[in-house]
Amino acid sequence: MKLLVTGGAGFIGSAFVRMAHGSGFEIVNLDKLTYAGNPENLEAVEGKAGYRFVHGDICDAALVEGLLEEARPEAIVHFAAESHVDRSILSPDAFVETNVRGTFTLLEAAKKAGTRKFCHVSTDEVYGSVEAPHEATEEDALRPNSPYSASKAGSDLLVRSYFQTYGLPAVVTRASNNYGPYQFPEKLIPLMILNAMENRPLPVYGDGQQVRDWLYVEDHCRALMAVLEKGRAGETYNIGGNRSLANLEVVRRVLESVGRPETLIQYVRDRPGHDRRYALSSAKLMNETGWAPEVSFEDGLSETIRWYRGHPGWIERVRSKEYREYYAANYSGRGLKKSETL
Ligand code: NAD
Ligand code: TYD
Repeated sequence: MKLLVTGGAGFIGSAFVRMAHGSGFEIVNLDKLTYAGNPENLEAVEGKAGYRFVHGDICDAALVEGLLEEARPEAIVHFAAESHVDRSILSPDAFVETNVRGTFTLLEAAKKAGTRKFCHVSTDEVYGSVEAPHEATEEDALRPNSPYSASKAGSDLLVRSYFQTYGLPAVVTRASNNYGPYQFPEKLIPLMILNAMENRPLPVYGDGQQVRDWLYVEDHCRALMAVLEKGRAGETYNIGGNRSLANLEVVRRVLESVGRPETLIQYVRDRPGHDRRYALSSAKLMNETGWAPEVSFEDGLSETIRWYRGHPGWIERVRSKEYREYYAANYSGRGLKKSETL
């Protein structure tokens, strides 16, 4: 089976490309290589038979239409997105452009090409903050609170409309917070691992009691493979890690695993519009496909820390000038002293 993967040079997309290629899928990977796209994440497949990289923007209709016409993939797995909430607060433009217009462009091209499966990779953040003890189901209302989650909710609704209106056989998946190797160090877990390894302050937003459900990236990719195989067109599937933890607890575990003191924790100004709790039920996916998360948070975190420890060159190269500027803009605005930023 041939897949067009978008955003396959990013964190989750590259894990999916490695897994799907390893399982015998032929892959065409379309990626713009933004700050988050990294060809080094694909060294395992680069140059191998059945893998091709196309450098380009999902908003480029002529490129996308030409690619579908020429490659004729059986399915599209759509990861490409601007993905970081804090960046969406600082500069939302690219989020609307890539996440909404880019998804629209792909849907139009898929409709014209008669693509038989379209898997739209979305997020539990579209449900907004969920009051305990409720777990969001696929039927819950969308109440996004950040420009990131609003742009993803917009793209989810476009996908729905292409199924309802044009019969495009599309599914939407909504995963909880992912972690694992190759994650860009702007997200909580890799950022805290690197700061702990380097004895720099670990910036916790607000009181650190916000709750996230942690999903190991390979469990997410296995779920996507199950959806590709067994998902029903027009349906939405939640993908949760079944491991809810408060941020402060995650940060403490990182410090303990890296062997650093809790005095490195620094409470900083909270994120505006910060969702207090994400929680979702994956019962539908589990019942329909038999999928379940396999990697415990303890094992996943140890593996992730081991990976970052073993890849100092990767870390050095992703910390570009752009990254340092983002870090200073995000964290000095929250009260981390200039001398404490990168
Ligand atoms: P990422 O930021 O690591 O990677 C995004 C990739 O998309 C990069 O390779 C980037 O170059 C590419 N890209 C961005 N704009 C593009 C464009 N206009 N055209 C082509 N390529 C473009 O993101 P990620 O964490 O791997 O997330 C992948 C997907 O999964 C996203 O759609 C995200 O919303 C969703 N998701 C992420 C999480 C998470 O915890 N990271 C959880 C649930 C859902
Ligand atoms: P993040 O990894 O940005 O994912 P999301 O906002 O998509 O859930 O953040 C996870 C949680 O960690 C979120 O509640 C914000 C918090 N956080 C911090 O406390 N400090 C940080 O430096 C970062 C990046 C996140």
